[in-house]
Amino acid sequence: MSEKATITLEGKNFELPVITGTENEKAIDITKLRDLTGYITLDSGYKNTGATISQITYLDGETGILRYRGYPIEQLAEKSSFLEVAYLLIYGTLPTTDQFDDFSKKITRHTLIHEDMKRFYEAFPKKAHPMAVLASMLCTLSTFYPESQQTNRPWEEVETTVHRLLAKISTISAWAYKNSVGHPVVYPQNKYNYVENFLNMMFSMPTEQYEIDPVIVQALDKLLILHADHEQNCSASTVRMVGSSHANLYSSVSAGAIALWGPLHGGANQEVIEMLQKIQADGGNYKKWVEKAKDKNDSFKLMGFGHRVYKNFDPRAKIIKKACDDVLNKLGINDPILDLAKQLEEVALNDQYFVERKLYPNVDFYSGIIYKAIGIPTEMFTVMFAMGRLPGWIAQWKEMIAAKEPIGRPRQIYTGETERNYVPIAKR
Ligand code: ACO
Repeated sequence: MSEKATITLEGKNFELPVITGTENEKAIDITKLRDLTGYITLDSGYKNTGATISQITYLDGETGILRYRGYPIEQLAEKSSFLEVAYLLIYGTLPTTDQFDDFSKKITRHTLIHEDMKRFYEAFPKKAHPMAVLASMLCTLSTFYPESQQTNRPWEEVETTVHRLLAKISTISAWAYKNSVGHPVVYPQNKYNYVENFLNMMFSMPTEQYEIDPVIVQALDKLLILHADHEQNCSASTVRMVGSSHANLYSSVSAGAIALWGPLHGGANQEVIEMLQKIQADGGNYKKWVEKAKDKNDSFKLMGFGHRVYKNFDPRAKIIKKACDDVLNKLGINDPILDLAKQLEEVALNDQYFVERKLYPNVDFYSGIIYKAIGIPTEMFTVMFAMGRLPGWIAQWKEMIAAKEPIGRPRQIYTGETERNYVPIAKR
């Protein structure tokens, strides 16, 4: 017999279906709740609300599990490549050699951006945050490909948009950086793989060709994999919500980038490094800053700590911490910021405040240290996150469109004034 949930309201019992996922996650299906009872549910920040049924990513915050399409993140981070993971997320299966070659070729072929887009860069102030530039440019792509605005296009046509996005985001991002430092942009080159091409566009100069270091390529590829999807987080939910109105894919992922930018989400990686630098400049007394984070009268938070779903550990943080040690060792960098991060982590993990609230380092706690070691400027950290997350946003959007999900439109409980009559200004 299928399980049911019984809810009693105003003395009447109502039965609601229970849904069970493949990993035995349970949900009470309230789709008919309002029709049956006149009631809605209230769940600020959606802490208990499943917004969709999905087959893309599984995570269990209590035991620290993360899998893309069933494959453990640890295996993908060690053995796969970012483009292969992008394929997996978007298409649902690991590619064969032919499928992978075809996919990589298509992405390589689309890395150039329209010359007219260069003029947009010239118009941005030099101080523009690269996340603002990235989000604007992702949306701007829709003006160059107006056919993307038609709804119900066959998948084969949408696929070109997918290839363009995956390809052009690295050019757009690298150019945002070049523009911010007043250097000439570097064009993409087909001889490079995805990560090499990005690094070349970021760091080559007319005066000096950037030497690509395989240690850096590998580290960056791993970081992109670790950020590639995280089920219904703030930015993925934004992409699905915006896409549910049938806004085009370029605009939907642009909205996702904006959601990611916030310091409580992807913007935390920039904030972590800035926090560590501040603590270091303050004499390195990290214990004082842990106390500040605990003080409810102080707005300071330990950036890179805590997560909405991980209440044990963030499996990505474990992988990144190790990668961070490896990269710094291989590059021969001795960064005191890394020592500070480790000491801070140690103190926080043994402090009652953090233990009781199950606050652990999240993916962003160590990622910034790797980005810094490989020469990525702090303001670009969240852009790196967005590049990694793009396949996830695309997969979430694709799934939502294929399932013909209705437009996202939550309800509310109104607590404002009840009806009152208008009073002319002179009589107020
Ligand atoms: N430092 C100090 N205290 C914290 C921190 C922190 N980093 N994070 C949470 N807390 C405290 C809260 O003050 C709260 O305490 P209380 O119960 O005494 O009121 C308790 O822990 C629960 O925290 P909430 O904010 O209610 O948890 P929520 O799930 O809403 O927020 C979030 C999660 C936003 C990630 C939060 O932990 C945070 O702000 N962390 C710092 C920012 C950060 O690193 N963000 C990146 C997240 S990972 C990502 O998006 C990729």
